Amino acid sequence: MCGIVAYLGKKEAFPIIINGLKRLEYRGYDSTGIAILNNELKVFKKAGKVSDLEAYASPLDTIGNIGIGHTRWATHGKPNDTNAHPHKSGNSRLALVHNGIIENYKYLKSALKELGHHFDSETDTEVLVHLIEELQKRDDLSLEDAVREALTRVVGAYAIVVIDKDNPTKIVAARKDSPLVIGIGNEEYYLASDATPLIEYTKKMIYLNEEEIAVVELGKPIEVKSIDNIIQSPTIQEVDMNIEELEKGGYDYFMMKEIHQQPATVADCMRGRINAEEGWVHLGGVNQYEGKFTNASRIIMAACGTSWHSALIGEYLFEELARIPVEVEYASELRYRNPVLTENDVVIAISQSGETADTLSALRLAKERGALTYGIVNVVGSSIARLTDAGSYIHAGPEIGVASTKAFTGQVTLLTLMALKLAKLRNTISEDYYRQLLFELKVIPKKISQVLSQNEAHIKYIANEIKDKTNALYLGRGYNFPVALEGALKLKEISYIHAEGYPAAEMKHGPIALIDENMPVFVIATNKSAYEKIISNIQEVKARKGYVIAIVIEGEKTISEIADHVIEIPDTVEPLVPLLSVIPLQLLSYYIAILRGCNVDQPRNLAKSVTVE
Ligand code: AGP
Repeated sequence: MCGIVAYLGKKEAFPIIINGLKRLEYRGYDSTGIAILNNELKVFKKAGKVSDLEAYASPLDTIGNIGIGHTRWATHGKPNDTNAHPHKSGNSRLALVHNGIIENYKYLKSALKELGHHFDSETDTEVLVHLIEELQKRDDLSLEDAVREALTRVVGAYAIVVIDKDNPTKIVAARKDSPLVIGIGNEEYYLASDATPLIEYTKKMIYLNEEEIAVVELGKPIEVKSIDNIIQSPTIQEVDMNIEELEKGGYDYFMMKEIHQQPATVADCMRGRINAEEGWVHLGGVNQYEGKFTNASRIIMAACGTSWHSALIGEYLFEELARIPVEVEYASELRYRNPVLTENDVVIAISQSGETADTLSALRLAKERGALTYGIVNVVGSSIARLTDAGSYIHAGPEIGVASTKAFTGQVTLLTLMALKLAKLRNTISEDYYRQLLFELKVIPKKISQVLSQNEAHIKYIANEIKDKTNALYLGRGYNFPVALEGALKLKEISYIHAEGYPAAEMKHGPIALIDENMPVFVIATNKSAYEKIISNIQEVKARKGYVIAIVIEGEKTISEIADHVIEIPDTVEPLVPLLSVIPLQLLSYYIAILRGCNVDQPRNLAKSVTVE
């Protein structure tokens, strides 16, 4: 939530920051702002998107070689020009951008008001810049010391970048529970919430660690200290990403590009990790903790949103194949109750961004209680990746569309590999079934391509039939139940149609009351094990005049005669079906949203990386 970009060097800062903010817009897009230092401190802010700020500020005097920028996802205060960041200190000497929440801002605000401070915005952030100003003035502190002192008084999460009119060649940055990366160029520095705005300028980066403060000054090496003022030795990493990965590549929206990348991203997730002919699965992180995994009394999977749906599929996979009990938890719920967690547990955190605040806090709790923590993450170097004891990247590449697509199939692929690896280690799977699953996994990327190429025209037609509906139901059994939840989430988040996912058999316990001729019901009906039962569920919907769109295995006859529409996917073994059955649901939600005139990459009220609890 919220994106930060800053520049310090010899180039013009404004275009670099605008460009960077556009790359970070997926993190928040309700208001934006930039502060440029050039003898005076100039601040430009606008409600709306980065392009609105660009149009507003470009004709103005934006000249200067040091600046900070921000794209906001509102927490405290409406998205308007005043609440947009950067915020200035009362004496207009400092400007600050912030990603996170200052939880004790009310207390700090009233204390500062008593000292004569006046606030323009409703934000928690403005309080922090006034606090830094106060300490700087009161104790005659350097900028970095004032920032450090202020942060010791703050409760909450922050990534901040501060500039000071009286220190025109210096930037001070700090982080706790929100990410911050420093890019090192040739006599210039870039800072951002993640690496994406930086890679066109440099691949050399420092990922700030928890509660670290960096002083970035022209002509001097970067100095990093802990909040307790102890000098740290930051590691400079080479980031392996290229600019094409951040472009739409000819598609109208990133979401569509990402849907179509799935044959490649699923293959990338398996690359070097599986050999069907020789019958092995290799996952470095699992090898490292083999004993812990095989002897774990249970595995807990913690995640949010789409990643939580992947975890549910993980539960089915681990229990069926590896016979390990699994509990799937909403990370936010796991964190704020008092769960029974011991050193015999393994906690797997699943997250595309690796920055989700709820998942991070659940992970910290698991670590405190001595559990082994494992991350299934997409973003390399992210906080979850660094906090866990071990883990596996899904290697899906940057996912920029707010609606998660390729990360979901990457997570499910990785969980399948893990389940197979553990099943083999625990000897809970027959050699024949193990080999069959490995061979089927190998051809899944081709089958995803087939789903994508064969169904698009039909899906567009169905989307047109559904686009004006106000509600929808998604039903599935077994491995397809989490897919039903994921289909419903995709539809509601990008098209704003209310949708619910249910286990198909649960429909008769309540939701059936909703069914009439206006209710589209998507049934993921590829199951072999409960085939007759799912047919009965479809009959029950049809008997109440529901409009049924069924996802079926190609060549299926019975459902094709009852349903209003069927979308065929290639046959595969049941545990791998989600990797195929989710694809038509992603495409359906995409086309429905487009027909309703929605911005699918930046749906209202959402952000890609949810760094607040
Ligand atoms: C999915 O389409 C979402 N926009 C959202 O639910 C997301 O999956 C969730 O916020 C978790 O994010 P993470 O995977 O980055 O942790």
